[in-house]
Order: sequence, then structure tokens, then C-alpha cells
Amino acid sequence: MHVDLTGRTALVTGSTQGIGAAIATALARSGATVAVNGRTSDGVTAAVKRLRAEVPDAEVVPVAADVATEEGARLAVELLPEVDVLVNNLGVFESRPALEITDAEWRRYFEVNVLAAVRLTRAYLPGMTGRDWGRVQYIASDSAVVTPVEMIHYGMSKTALLAVSRGFAKEAAGTGVTVNSVITGPTRTGGVEDFVYELVDRDLEWEEAQRVFMREHRPQSLLQRLIEPEEIAHMVVYLSSPQASATTGGAVRVDGGYVDAILP
Ligand SMILES: NC(=O)c1ccc[n+]([C@@H]2O[C@H](COP(=O)([O-])OP(=O)(O)OC[C@H]3O[C@@H](n4cnc5c(N)ncnc54)[C@H](OP(=O)(O)O)[C@@H]3O)[C@@H](O)[C@H]2O)c1
Repeated sequence: MHVDLTGRTALVTGSTQGIGAAIATALARSGATVAVNGRTSDGVTAAVKRLRAEVPDAEVVPVAADVATEEGARLAVELLPEVDVLVNNLGVFESRPALEITDAEWRRYFEVNVLAAVRLTRAYLPGMTGRDWGRVQYIASDSAVVTPVEMIHYGMSKTALLAVSRGFAKEAAGTGVTVNSVITGPTRTGGVEDFVYELVDRDLEWEEAQRVFMREHRPQSLLQRLIEPEEIAHMVVYLSSPQASATTGGAVRVDGGYVDAILP
């Protein structure tokens, strides 16, 4: 299958590193003009440079804006008024004892992980339905369906994203716009490396730390290794493609078999 996104513009939120950066690179490889987003100009400029080094002929638009705030979202839409593919990748996570999560943290997780995606969907969906083509995606998590006791606030935000995704898919019913979420499993990013070392002995070498983490904290994973960011990006590129036109309102898993369920 050859995915050609030439002529399409994609915004990937939180794409200066990790899964977002891998998605931005993969979309650029498929010919899309890609907007790279992060909170600071320096961070975005460095990420754009790295992307151009990997995909020399990439069309890249820098969007330095904190999309978790109202003004930041407004700025992003000013910089990029029209988008064909919106990948709501931005998300924060941190382990926290269940009974110690404060009101402020519950609110922050809702604001950053859910409301930022809702705002951008509200801003871009009408243009997509008006042009009768578009792709909206939410990067959810295995934590959306298997609530982790060490980060209930994060699980809550990802479960909410599944509902948001299904709801906006209904809003776009009967148009050429599809809306889906991607249930991402434990993936090797800088943030996850830190997270692993919060839970296992800091003196362990990375390979051993990863093995211990998977065995003790993610034993349900059928992959028994962390997923590479590029493996998530492949699914996002497929869902962004014209070929994925009949997949909407769904939650698609790239979780290494972590979620013990037969249905997606
Ligand atoms: N890694 C995993 O194992 C895993 C598993 C399941 C789901 N996920 C989900 O996958 C997504 C990406 O995770 P990741 O591990 O790749 O994250 P990450 O490495 O921590 O990267 C987060 C990105 O978001 C940006 N960012 C943070 N706050 C922002 C804001 N307010 N506005 C704009 N950009 C912001 C950061 O850029 P700046 O610092 O430059 O602003 C960075 O590019 C998240 O939704 C996460 O929940 C991850």
C-alpha cells in the first residue's frame, strides 16, 4: 500500500520529541506538509531541523504554541488556519499515589490531555467537513481501558479521549472526515525512560531496567518490550490516508497486545 498525502496539511500537537516527532516525520515522508508543535520556539526550531535532516524535501511549518491554553490554541489556529489531518498527540503523564492527586492536578490532566484536543477539534473540524475530507486522531493509551493505580488522573484523561473521539466521529457522520483514537501501549520515549526509572532500580542499565519494568509492571504485554515510536506512527499514517476512508468512530490498538481483549 502506498500512502500519498501530497497536498494535505497535518498538525501534530506535541511533536518536538517522542511519539509526536515520529508521527510528524512519518507524515512528512508520506508527502504531507507537517506542522511541528511544541511550547517554545527553540524547541520547535530544533525539532524542525531534526525532521528536515531525516526528510530533506519535507514541507514543515513551525507552530510554537502551548495548545493546552486558550491563547495558545488560538495562536496555533492563527498560524495554521486550515488543517486536513489533526493528530492530537499532546499528553502528559507522571505516576502519583492515588490518594495524593490534588484538585489542581486533576484539572491540569483534563486541561492538557483532553481539553486541548477538544479545542483544536472544534477549531478545525468545520473546515474539514466543509471540504468533505479530513482525518482527526487522538493518541490515547492502554491506560484508557486498563486504569493504572499509579496514575488514575492520566487514565481518566485517556478514557475521556475515547469518548471525545467517538462523539466527534458522530458529529462528522456522513462526510469524508474520519475521527479515531489510537490506543498506544508502552512506548520507548524519553518520558517513559524517566517513568521506568521512577518504578525500578535507578542503578540498572537501560536494557535490564526495561525488562524488569515490563515483567513487573506491564506483564500483560504480549510484546514484552517497549513499542518503538515509529510503530505508532505507521498506524497514524494509515489512519491519515485516503485508504482508511471506512475506519471512523473507532479505537485502534497499537499496544503490543497489552489490553487483554479480543475486540479492538
Ligand atoms: N510514551 C508512552 O509509552 C505512551 C503510551 C501510551 C500513550 N502515550 C501518549 O502518547 C502521546 C505522546 O507521548 P510521548 O511519550 O511521546 O510524550 P513526550 O515524549 O513527553 O513528548 C511530549 C511532547 O509534547 C510537547 N508538549 C508538552 N506540553 C505541551 C503543550 N502544552 N503544548 C504543546 N506541546 C506540548 C512537548 O514539547 P515541548 O516540551 O517542546 O513543549 C513534547 O514534544 C501522549 O498523549 C501520551 O499520553 C504515550
